[in-house]
Amino acid sequence: MSKEYTIAVVPGDGIGDEIVREGLKILDAAGEVYGFRTKKTDYPHGADHYLETGELFPDETLRECAGHDAIFMGAIGDPRIEVGLLERAIIGGIRWKLDLYINLRPIKLYAEHLTPLKNTRPEDIDMIVVRENTESIYVGLGGRFKEGTPDEVAIAEMIMTRKGVERAVRYAFELAKTSGRRKVTLVDKANAIRPQDIWTRTFSEVGEEYPDIEKDHAYIDAACMWMVKNPETFDVVVVDNIFGDILTDLGAMLQGGLGIAASGNIHPGKLGMFEPIHGSAPKYKGKNVANPLATIAAVQMMLDYLGESEASSKIEATIAHLLQSKRIPDLSARSGLKTDEIGDMVVEEFRSRARG
Ligand code: IPM
Ligand code: MN
Repeated sequence: MSKEYTIAVVPGDGIGDEIVREGLKILDAAGEVYGFRTKKTDYPHGADHYLETGELFPDETLRECAGHDAIFMGAIGDPRIEVGLLERAIIGGIRWKLDLYINLRPIKLYAEHLTPLKNTRPEDIDMIVVRENTESIYVGLGGRFKEGTPDEVAIAEMIMTRKGVERAVRYAFELAKTSGRRKVTLVDKANAIRPQDIWTRTFSEVGEEYPDIEKDHAYIDAACMWMVKNPETFDVVVVDNIFGDILTDLGAMLQGGLGIAASGNIHPGKLGMFEPIHGSAPKYKGKNVANPLATIAAVQMMLDYLGESEASSKIEATIAHLLQSKRIPDLSARSGLKTDEIGDMVVEEFRSRARG
């Protein structure tokens, strides 16, 4: 009997269906080549489902998803629905209620022509951001008072706990150690938001347990600047939830665009949810133009998480090759290639590399 992984599949909204279809193609091909099977359960949740049934993402569904080996998600968000409702219920529900406390976001330049930075080679952009994934401004503590009047008050509290910070920091150091990376940079804003020194202090304490790993620190504003000016100085980065959200969109641009940036939401040893970091791009829905590479890269991360590291590296090498050779010329929806053409190209190249 070959191994079987159970995967909860949530395609979501907008281009979700199209990109997830291409992700599943490479997942199935990887299974055939590397001898594992996947048992997928589809979840229809998203805007259409909400409009039809009034249901967002019930706890029962969450529990079911959590019973799988991994969750694979497309994109969430729809202009017909109140801003943030679906995103907070589905993406947020999965991240926060299932306590997937690490959001792993690799930033890697696969081919020189893809980056907007001058004189920057692939080896200059190869970092991995460990974004804390359950706290900070996202917790929803706060509210509105006298809304819509000149006296309106709006409060959004930034919550940071020792437990939440420490497990993110520790994960970053462990990641550096086990993946042979040399350095961990802490990004915070403890100069202006003084309570953020919970990050600074925890980083320095936990860091003592990792004497062989270089430590660095940058405030979030400076980190944005350095990432553009000297991206080669970053290796592993550990950062608060909201700053990590912003920093990784910047990072995605350095690697060529949101069309390649993937992420893993992980509770180590328990569960992982994998998704592209881009949104649902409603204007491209059904047009077969969205670039599925970020979703394919999410599958690659999922396979690595599941322990299929060979399949994962082979998919990554495939993506790198197709971009370097310019068979996939860029990462935008205007590359001239169709969504399914790119998906097929990845599968074909993957199979020929796996044979070779
Ligand atoms: C992301 C997204 C989400 C976030 C939104 C959709 C809630 O921007 O995954 O980066 O802010 O985390
Ligand atoms: Mn984001």
